[in-house]
Amino acid sequence: MVLSPLLKARQKYPLRLPQILQELDSLMFSKGLSKEKPEIQALFPHMLGYPLLKGEKTARRKSHPFTVGVVLSGGQAAGGHNVIVGLFDALKQMHAGSALLGFLNGPSGIVEGKFKHLEQKELENFRNAGGFDLIGSGRTKIETPEQLQKSLEVVKSHKIDALVVIGGDDSNTNAALLAEYFLKNGCKTQVIGVPKTIDGDLQNNFVDISFGFDTACKTYSEMIGNIARDALSAKKYTHFIKLMGRSASHIALECALQTQPNLTLIAEEIAQEKKSLQQIGEEIADLIIKRAEMGKNYGIILIPEGLIEAVEEMNSLFSELNTLLASEEIQEIDVKEIRWKMQNFLQGPSLKTFTFLPEEIQLQIISDRDPHGNIQVAHIDTEKLLIEIVSKILKQRDFQGKFSPVSHFFGYEGRAGFPSNFDATYCYALGFTAAALIQEGVTGYMACVTHLKKQPEDWDVYGLPLLSLMHLEMRKGKQKPVIAKALVDLKGKPFQFFNNHREEWMVKDDYQFPGPMQFFGEESLTNSVPRIVSLQAH
Ligand code: FBP
Repeated sequence: MVLSPLLKARQKYPLRLPQILQELDSLMFSKGLSKEKPEIQALFPHMLGYPLLKGEKTARRKSHPFTVGVVLSGGQAAGGHNVIVGLFDALKQMHAGSALLGFLNGPSGIVEGKFKHLEQKELENFRNAGGFDLIGSGRTKIETPEQLQKSLEVVKSHKIDALVVIGGDDSNTNAALLAEYFLKNGCKTQVIGVPKTIDGDLQNNFVDISFGFDTACKTYSEMIGNIARDALSAKKYTHFIKLMGRSASHIALECALQTQPNLTLIAEEIAQEKKSLQQIGEEIADLIIKRAEMGKNYGIILIPEGLIEAVEEMNSLFSELNTLLASEEIQEIDVKEIRWKMQNFLQGPSLKTFTFLPEEIQLQIISDRDPHGNIQVAHIDTEKLLIEIVSKILKQRDFQGKFSPVSHFFGYEGRAGFPSNFDATYCYALGFTAAALIQEGVTGYMACVTHLKKQPEDWDVYGLPLLSLMHLEMRKGKQKPVIAKALVDLKGKPFQFFNNHREEWMVKDDYQFPGPMQFFGEESLTNSVPRIVSLQAH
């Protein structure tokens, strides 16, 4: 592998460790409270009453060699390689005879028993590097009895002492299911989760933010800032920028705080206020007219990926269409024909919503489906849809000014880049924490590194029982135990800060230009934490 000059320089970037992780042989965990919802207790009888664990100093103790498997699950998030490098370094520090196996291409690698031995030499090429390409990732869920049984056979036959699952809410839910299944079957393999996702929707009192969020937001904010400066210079385009982040609007909120655009839609607020697409369009049109009156025929509008599902009428349409499109009868028909025949299939409000949508979006909704037949909501061009709606409204209002919209979607470009110093350091510490929990002999825990606002040396480490995060939720018509997604808290400090400033940003063009992420140099430029973390109460 030929490394770019920056990759080579990044490999040498020294990773700071929390003080508590600097001497692993004198780290133990003290026990706190246990908390799990009564409705999930019956589903996890072997993991009940697990206490919260807090990393503390103790007298030195001896470790033995461990064989650990690691898997990357779900969408890429910058820093994943550093979790693996941290895990490897920690395991080797604990005992030189320890081994790390990387399961290939996500959880399917566990079921199929596909892995590779990870060694120091190869890992050095991935230190502080983005992406998940060392072992790959995937979205397979291990949930059927056959998949669980096969996973059990694989960990047993390769004498795997512990499995580290690096993933988001669904993957950590899966980690809990695996931990319970192993215990039920008398298998001693421990399962430890690590909080990953650019979406930032895995947050709680012990997870300030999931890793990858910081890098993604810094990447998007750089681009938003560049576009804002372009808009300010040319003064002729209104930019509609959709930002990745499946359901929650944390990414949009963070980018808004970093760049101060004219308008940022927050899906959680739109859902709470039950706004329709027409209402959202009217509000954007109001802004465009107001700015035009000030001679400003340009602007920056941020749209979260989850907006489309947050609009009630769209949500109802999607659930009706999901059932309809899954039927065998429909599968046979060409998508264009389905579109024409929609008045035969849909009724009342859903038909009205469908008819309201431009043809391009109607076809997108019908044709773009996932392997389960469901609509690929993430792939809908919401930014283009809003442009169409706003253009129509401006025409109806006989707007005489200039409206030249340009659409953008920032998504994949933020997931696999060089991790920021924050993500690189945080992930390395997460890898160490996972190893420390393995040494502690526990299972069904999430490795947590907290107080991220402080200097890395002062970060604390915890083991959080996965069950404490779970509740029952309706999934595909059935009540399932899952880790709840953390949505933007409209009463929380980050949203409140945004709320207090957004009116002034609408008209004042107080754009911020964060510029490219900095890796070397002055602390204030290189080591910033996400704004939503610095504004958090804890
Ligand atoms: P995870 O929840 O697995 O971290 O993935 C997040 C995400 O990047 C979302 O923001 C986005 O909607 C989705 O993945 C895209 O998925 P895919 O990579 O399958 O297109």
